[in-house]
Amino acid sequence: MNSHFLYDPSELLKAIKDFPKGTGILAFRDIPNILNQHVVGKKTLDFGCGAGRSSRILNALGYDVCGVDIASTMINSARLLTSEIQFKVVDRPLNRLLTETYDLIFLSFVLMEMTKAADIVVTLQQLKKQLNPNGRVVVITASNEMYLHEWLSMKPMTKNINSGLPAEILLKDYNTTVTDIVWSESDCFEFFAGSGFSLIEKYYPLGQDRDDRPWLIETEIAPFVIWVLA
Ligand SMILES: C[S@@+](CC[C@H](N)C(=O)[O-])C[C@H]1O[C@@H](n2cnc3c(N)ncnc32)[C@H](O)[C@@H]1O
Repeated sequence: MNSHFLYDPSELLKAIKDFPKGTGILAFRDIPNILNQHVVGKKTLDFGCGAGRSSRILNALGYDVCGVDIASTMINSARLLTSEIQFKVVDRPLNRLLTETYDLIFLSFVLMEMTKAADIVVTLQQLKKQLNPNGRVVVITASNEMYLHEWLSMKPMTKNINSGLPAEILLKDYNTTVTDIVWSESDCFEFFAGSGFSLIEKYYPLGQDRDDRPWLIETEIAPFVIWVLA
């Protein structure tokens, strides 16, 4: 585990090379405080870790992280970037019990890559079994507003937005378009409740002057939601 724990988001931004630079900072800027407030214990599963960005952020915050993903290519990339964190490939849907239980299970930008509501519920039900009795699940998803407005770093490209259907969004910094599955906040709530989770808190991080970014509407409307579940 990293011995230099970083609680200041601006320090995190400097330390994690692929820490988001634009609108994406709003997904992670408040995570140190949110985790300090809600999570007891350090043992963490970063579910849908991709190339390990979220795992590296959690590791830098002092969490003892195992990153898992269905994509072996992503896990291979994650392993190349750090040897401090354990990374594993998992099945889809998550139909085999992971062997360990966790104080924190973290999902950042994962639901938007899951195409079927039933898979999401089965996966969350399985994750609930991996949570310690006082454990917390933290989920970062798109807010209902994400695909409706242009942001500093993102521009929605799909006109008619419906929960459960794909939407294209241009990532301006990379000049590339990605396709997400839109899940409305009410559908997400149904997935969580249907998997046996209770909502502890919901956060809508807004852009602030101290972020030192030329925000567009991020100061008034939140592109992301951070859910804390038990
Ligand atoms: C957009 S990436 C997010 C990566 C990382 N959490 C972050 O924030 O940097 C979403 C990841 O979720 C993974 N994923 C999608 N469905 C999954 C599933 N059912 N089980 C595990 N991982 C999944 C994808 O393979 C992808 O790597």
